[in-house]
Amino acid sequence: MTDTILQATHLKKEFGGVIAVNNVSFDVLRGEIFAVIGPNGAGKTTLFNLISGAYTPTTGEIRFAGKPLDRARPHTRTKLGMARTFQNLRLFNNMSVLENVMVGRHARSRYGILEAALRLPTATREENAIRDAAMQCVARVGLAERANELVGNLSFGGQRLVEIARAVATEPKLLLLDEPGAGLTRHEVEGLDTLIHDLRRDGMTVILVEHNMELVMGIADRVMVLDYGQKIAEGTPPQIQQNKRVIAAYLGEEPFPALRMEAHDDATSS
Ligand SMILES: Nc1ncnc2c1ncn2[C@@H]1O[C@H](COP(=O)(O)OP(=O)(O)OP(=O)(O)O)[C@@H](O)[C@H]1O
Ligand SMILES: [Mg+2]
Repeated sequence: MTDTILQATHLKKEFGGVIAVNNVSFDVLRGEIFAVIGPNGAGKTTLFNLISGAYTPTTGEIRFAGKPLDRARPHTRTKLGMARTFQNLRLFNNMSVLENVMVGRHARSRYGILEAALRLPTATREENAIRDAAMQCVARVGLAERANELVGNLSFGGQRLVEIARAVATEPKLLLLDEPGAGLTRHEVEGLDTLIHDLRRDGMTVILVEHNMELVMGIADRVMVLDYGQKIAEGTPPQIQQNKRVIAAYLGEEPFPALRMEAHDDATSS
């Protein structure tokens, strides 16, 4: 039995003259929380776009559960068990929190929306099942009391949680989170930390792109570092924090400031 859920080999994505992802290979193990970090423009979102099927690699291969994904479209990858959130939120602002999450649930239902409309009695049952399942996902991210509010009324942090709920509603085996902590309050980040742990406990594998180093270093089993499209390091959080190449890649910025300040206070992320 292989424990590798995702395997990327010599992945490359070129846009005109820019090589956004340059010969990157890595394995993600089943049940792992695998973080991808790197300075702005390092290629993290492009990597997610390659994994989710939004982009086709210039060269290289991605295998999911042992099978090459080739040119599988994003919705095919959803059905195979992959889901993602977006760095720039993609919610329907004229819809409620629950309805936004139901969209995710529809993506895995047997019937498309049109088909469901043509088969009303079944569709109604199907729709109720979708609503119930979506509601569970809404509750899971702590938004049960706001399920019927327009999503646009929620804080930025709340909207990020709706994106996660929508991805979780597809029941993924592999969940890709693109900067879920961006713009969240400290309290919200703590909730996010707990949520990611819970999802993993339920059997999900998580790939996390994130700039909040305290969150990353507290939660990741392994961290891969990209810089100018290339993989410059991979290892456990302590290995990465001491890696000179990684520190240099952040160009004199203090890459792990929160960690340094709170090095004495390990209890915060438990
Ligand atoms: N569709 C595109 N067309 C042209 N260039 C692109 C495209 N998408 C990304 N790039 C370029 O590829 C490089 C990597 O961008 P990417 O968005 O993947 O970085 P990132 O690591 O996610 O950065 P950030 O931390 O700011 O989100 C950048 O130079 C970017 O300008
Ligand atoms: Mg990005």
